[in-house]
Amino acid sequence: MRFMFTTIIGIAISGTAVAQTTITRDQLANADYVKGRAAFQSRCAACHTMADGSADLAGPALYGMFGRTAGTKSGFEFSDALKKAGFAWDADRLAAWLADPKGYLPDNIMLIPEAVPARDRVNMISFMMVEAGAADWPRPAIINANAATDASKPPSERFPSFWNHMMFNTVRYAFERPGESEYVVDVYYNEDGSVASNQPGLTGFWHITGRSMFCYALQGLAVEPGMVVECVPVAAMSIPRFNERLWQSKGWQGRVVHGGILPGRPDVPVSTAAAAAAAPPGRPR
Ligand code: HEC
Repeated sequence: MRFMFTTIIGIAISGTAVAQTTITRDQLANADYVKGRAAFQSRCAACHTMADGSADLAGPALYGMFGRTAGTKSGFEFSDALKKAGFAWDADRLAAWLADPKGYLPDNIMLIPEAVPARDRVNMISFMMVEAGAADWPRPAIINANAATDASKPPSERFPSFWNHMMFNTVRYAFERPGESEYVVDVYYNEDGSVASNQPGLTGFWHITGRSMFCYALQGLAVEPGMVVECVPVAAMSIPRFNERLWQSKGWQGRVVHGGILPGRPDVPVSTAAAAAAAPPGRPR
């Protein structure tokens, strides 16, 4: 069986002019909430929660962010770039940053592989405003397919097949490279949310979102652009089968990334848990 995932790994376009558009309240109120949610889930949920009272991850919790001064959410250690930004977040500021994640606030430490494409920005910001408690329009009525999932149980019980597969076996990625052999790396997802690898220097983290998405970020890959941030349905990672090529994603510059699961792990995997805890991706070392 072969799975095709949409993925968010891509080319970081630098030097692109940021359109100085103003997003209207009507655009936001009429945006596509479901598309915005999907875009947020795949591009942001690895590092950010939206729900009221939920925790900071690698990035700050975003509930209540609209109207709040950038870099001031208590309990999160922001970069100087965010602390000194000096403006309150609104739809236009956020759109400008997502269009140019590196250039808009130079030296910020939010590492995302690419800018958010224009077609997704308004939908995503509209979704975020609804979730962050900042929308003055009614919350769209959506049927949540995962409402039945009992989130109070640990993932080992909710997703036993996923757990057995991902926590005790080896995940092998093969990145296609034009004119070169594939870059192959083994990754071990640990029970504490850290990531180890057979390649020294590779760090990362993973977690499962409230919508049963397995989100992970890997940093320090020896292939451009050096990192992957991706969310895929837990169900897709629960295939009780071993094969080097179980799924594939479209990666950076449209290049194919193969993923597969191999039985077991080396006795002493190169643990990067300590390094990852000391410096999660996106935070300075
Ligand atoms: C790899 C982890 C990661 C991903 C993925 C990520 N962020 Fe962030 N985000 C961060 C970090 C770290 C910061 C703090 C940046 C700093 O202090 O320079 C941050 C800060 C922010 C802030 C500022 C919050 C405040 O209170 O000032 C917003 C808004 C934000 N991110 C939105 C997003 C959106 C929208 C996406 C998806 C397109 C996204 N982030 C993807 C890690 C991430």
